[in-house]
Amino acid sequence: MAQRAREQWGSGFGFLMAAIGSAVGLGNMWRFSYLAAEHGGAAFVILYVLMIFLVGFPVLLAELAIGRGAARGPVQALGFYGGRWWKALGALFVGAGFLIASYYSVIAGWTLRYTLEGIALGFAADPAAHFAEVSTGYDALVWHLLFMAGSLWIVANGITFGIERTASLVMPLLFLVVCGLAVYASTLPGSEGGYRYYLNSDDYASIFSREVLAEAAGQAFFSLSLGMGAMLTYASYLKRTTNLPAQAVIVSLADFAIAFVAGLVVFPLLFALGLQEEVGASTLGALFITLPKAFVGLGIGGRIVGSLFFAALVVGALTSLISLLEVVVASTVDIVGWDRRRSTIWTGIAAALFGVPAALSLDALDVMDQVATNFFLMGGGLALALFTGWVMREPEVEVAAGAGRYRWLRLWIQALRYAVPLILAFIMIGTVPKTIAAISALFE
Ligand code: PFF
Repeated sequence: MAQRAREQWGSGFGFLMAAIGSAVGLGNMWRFSYLAAEHGGAAFVILYVLMIFLVGFPVLLAELAIGRGAARGPVQALGFYGGRWWKALGALFVGAGFLIASYYSVIAGWTLRYTLEGIALGFAADPAAHFAEVSTGYDALVWHLLFMAGSLWIVANGITFGIERTASLVMPLLFLVVCGLAVYASTLPGSEGGYRYYLNSDDYASIFSREVLAEAAGQAFFSLSLGMGAMLTYASYLKRTTNLPAQAVIVSLADFAIAFVAGLVVFPLLFALGLQEEVGASTLGALFITLPKAFVGLGIGGRIVGSLFFAALVVGALTSLISLLEVVVASTVDIVGWDRRRSTIWTGIAAALFGVPAALSLDALDVMDQVATNFFLMGGGLALALFTGWVMREPEVEVAAGAGRYRWLRLWIQALRYAVPLILAFIMIGTVPKTIAAISALFE
């Protein structure tokens, strides 16, 4: 294949930090804990692990193989392996990246505001009223635009100088802070209730509920940044000597570990302060209301811990948002032919504007999240599994470059051909009515 001069990661460590940075984000610390709270703690955690390894891991490896093999963004890469009709799927990926980036930046903006507020002023005495005031409207809009601008600046600086350098610097810090917070939470009197709730569910029956299964699968896709070409795009800057299965294992494990440890921070903290009633009724805003309540209750220590917690969220959100934007920017560079800087500016302005409804209404934000996860990511994952299993010729040969031929790669292909599409189709059929209901409620 004719290779154009294309940027490459400076080091294996740099790629890993960027890929883990993409995976670890609001999904691990915000979405995971509110879903676990909503769906009975441990039962959800078990299903989530199952979904990561049954459907997440095979699709992750497929994205890495396609991206590295084609050394292009998703549109060109799918066209390269499947012919021009498959470019449409790549275009859908770019659309998904654009959609998620636009509302993700709104939530990321909240986290930045909460961090700086925590440091400068302390957390508000009435967090529910405060959240109602700042989560939508002018405030939300300003922080959304600020966060988007910062992320775009990093993307504009390119793969090694912008993305790799940022991720290599901040991701190790994020690990340290989250682990430190979990240790702190374990010292609080009354935290045992949190562990019990999180690790030992009363409600294992929900493992058999299709709705919980769907949430777990959607979360696995969201959290691993799958189904929209983010991992594919990052892999397109990899050398052919990289061992892809090893990278996929490390990224999946690190992503799960951070979500799990974030739960070890959130649940003990809430139970220690007697806020468990509010855990059950968890919604999108829970983390921004209940946790600050806990931080206020813990006095000055709570202020430090809370600021660190939100700072970790900022870091996670930043490294994830830059991967979402990179999908759109790389594709604009590949297809339109603009340089990186110009592509970044224009796609960034468009994504920032598209995020305005999410900054003005929580309902709009919720619907964007549901459509993105239940429709785009899972649908994208399903199509990508079919593509790799049936259309792409000998994907195992691409994986074997840099890794050697593993016998289980046959099993991987069988999983992509049958198991992954069947599981995802079964789940998606269940979620469609709910997503449609949420969309129509928005327009009533
Ligand atoms: N994985 C990110 C998170 O867990 O917050 C969200 C995300 C990033 C989803 C990049 C999809 C994506 F392409």
